[in-house]
Amino acid sequence: MDLLSTIKKTIEQEIADFNDYFKSLLKSDVMLMNDALSFLSESVGKMMRPMLVILVSKSIGNVDEKNFSAAAAVEMLHTASLLHDDVIDESNKRRGRPSLNTRFNNNVAVLTGDYMFSMALNCTAKTGDIRVIDAISIMGRDLPNGEVMQVELQQNGSYSEENYLKVIYYKTASLFVCCAACAVYTAGGSDEYVEKFSNYAKYAGLCFQMKDDIFDYYSNDIGKPTGSDMSEGKITLPALYVLRTSSNPLLQPIKEKLSNGIYLDEKEIETLIEISKNEGGIDYTNSCIENYRNMAIESIPEDIENEYRDALIAYIDYVISREK
Ligand code: IPE
Ligand code: IPE
Ligand code: MG
Ligand code: MG
Repeated sequence: MDLLSTIKKTIEQEIADFNDYFKSLLKSDVMLMNDALSFLSESVGKMMRPMLVILVSKSIGNVDEKNFSAAAAVEMLHTASLLHDDVIDESNKRRGRPSLNTRFNNNVAVLTGDYMFSMALNCTAKTGDIRVIDAISIMGRDLPNGEVMQVELQQNGSYSEENYLKVIYYKTASLFVCCAACAVYTAGGSDEYVEKFSNYAKYAGLCFQMKDDIFDYYSNDIGKPTGSDMSEGKITLPALYVLRTSSNPLLQPIKEKLSNGIYLDEKEIETLIEISKNEGGIDYTNSCIENYRNMAIESIPEDIENEYRDALIAYIDYVISREK
């Protein structure tokens, strides 16, 4: 059985119901907003975050309306952050289609993002659980903090693995942690579950972003543009590795520019990508992913039934082996 089927086998009905519920929320009585929301509803993403909420909740208790509200809140926030991200990155493709900023325009994309943020708040309130509201509001700060830290590092030229990990924790893993914590809260689980599942989700989230960053080094079709991170000043783990370890003389002018906060030109990006591939940057990143994968699995609470343990393992394996 493939990984997605192993995950979905345990939560198939819940995922189907959740998808209907989520789409039913994407409505507005203003026609243009409604058009933008319909556009989003026609191309929902992989739903990795709601899947995590539902999977964790079901592994320790029942999935109910509160779970769905929490799952909808995280997916709304995620979608809002992608809408804004594509405006910031001037990106023209998302989920295999034109991005919303391209199909409509930047104004509509930013405002639809704001609308989604507010809908996320509303979903959060529907859980009636102050811990969920707390977790989601903290995560709502973490995401832009990660994005802004990325800008700061680029401007200061302070690229390091340590800083990279902080950025990807804030901009991506924090959302996965929030999913796990909210899942435990809404299912009525213990503090120990909160801690263990949050660790699991943190490692899964770090793997998720590292994998996303590797995609950018290849010209495969993952439904969004590749090769754009470096031109936006994002230096990710494969390149950080060779910048630290390689003595290739071609890297000298590149290091110089980066440390002075200057963007690389096309030729330099090509060189850095090639060296990252040829001198162990991708291999190193894959070995980090493998380590975090194992740490995620070690974090799964021991008393979870095998069916759910297998699904949680399949989830992290899907994160690291996915092709889009
Ligand atoms: C994209 O997330 C943003 C990152 C954190 C890299 P996903 O790859 O989960 O996006 P969708 O929702 O499936 O399109
Ligand atoms: C992740 O950054 C975006 C968020 C976490 C909001 P990226 O810029 O790498 O995401 P993609 O690759 O555009 O999906
Ligand atoms: Mg982007
Ligand atoms: Mg990316």
